Amino acid sequence: MREKLEAIKNSALSEIESAKKLEDIENIKVQFLGRKGELNTIKRGLKDLPPEEKPVIGSLANTIASEIEEKLEEKYQILYKHAVNERLAAETIDVTLPGLSIPVGKKHLLTDTINEIIEIFQGMGFSLVDNISNPEVETEYYNFDALNFPADHPAKDMQDTFYTTVAPNVVLRSQTSNSQIRAMENTNPPLRVICPGRVYRSESVSSRKNNLFHQLEGFLVDKDVTFGDLKGVLNEFIRLYFGQARPTRFRTSYFPFTEPSAEIDVQCIICSGKGCRTCSGTGWLEILGSGMIDPNVLRYVNIDPEQYTGFAFGMGIERLAMLKYAINDIRLFFNNDIRFLQQF
Ligand code: DAH
Repeated sequence: MREKLEAIKNSALSEIESAKKLEDIENIKVQFLGRKGELNTIKRGLKDLPPEEKPVIGSLANTIASEIEEKLEEKYQILYKHAVNERLAAETIDVTLPGLSIPVGKKHLLTDTINEIIEIFQGMGFSLVDNISNPEVETEYYNFDALNFPADHPAKDMQDTFYTTVAPNVVLRSQTSNSQIRAMENTNPPLRVICPGRVYRSESVSSRKNNLFHQLEGFLVDKDVTFGDLKGVLNEFIRLYFGQARPTRFRTSYFPFTEPSAEIDVQCIICSGKGCRTCSGTGWLEILGSGMIDPNVLRYVNIDPEQYTGFAFGMGIERLAMLKYAINDIRLFFNNDIRFLQQF
């Protein structure tokens, strides 16, 4: 019995000695000290020994058990420290490395431009009408008819305007001028309104034209409004938007809903009037359409043209941004290339 116990002890100690991993310790423990372990097998056999042997062998078995336990604990501590050190070495963090930077988003140049223009007109007492009261999916009536477009006007052609399958007379608005009718239908003069929004044209896309772009419409209706008021408001807008007063030119034009009508040119901001590629050598850049609201339009919305007059204007937002920031392709606004957007 004694020899057997000694043999168990020696084999346990040598296994402990050669243990390399924390799991080994657990396995050795089960093998020698567990309920079905080698030492317990011996203890279970004690009852068959002669009485004087029982206590001696029993106590020897206990001593060996605690000795093995002690060695196991010692080895466990060593292996545990080793494992911790290994893990610390593997997971070392270089705190001097620069952190990961998260790119910060910002508003799109178009949003910024629209907001800037809105602010300028709000400063002149205009109030903002949103897209809810002025829809993009619009009837021909608001987009054309009530704006005094004759039934056979070329703009009404399918080649120029997107018709929808919603109903025969429903289009994607081709201009924000629908806001004139919608606002004047609902509110009596005096009125000072601006309405920015998306518009759609069915035409081939190029560096200067996109099927979708943005306009800002403005109009003012009151007693005794004159063309002089229109000039004053728009010249002030140009001064504030381009950052300094610039020579302007009011060029006679035609729109069905204004009479008289004018297109407004601003002196080329690239060449200051000398003539360059941006202004096709003319020295002038067209920036918006405008005019005195046609009496027919006022009649459509039950405003008496003998009592009230008004002016209106409509500008292309992309065009204004392109001029201010020297952008040469309208498609850049819609491609969402971060390298472009980040520049503003
Ligand atoms: N709606 C016109 C267009 O899209 C622009 C315009 C011209 C608007 C004259 C106006 C205006 O309000 O008075 O070409």
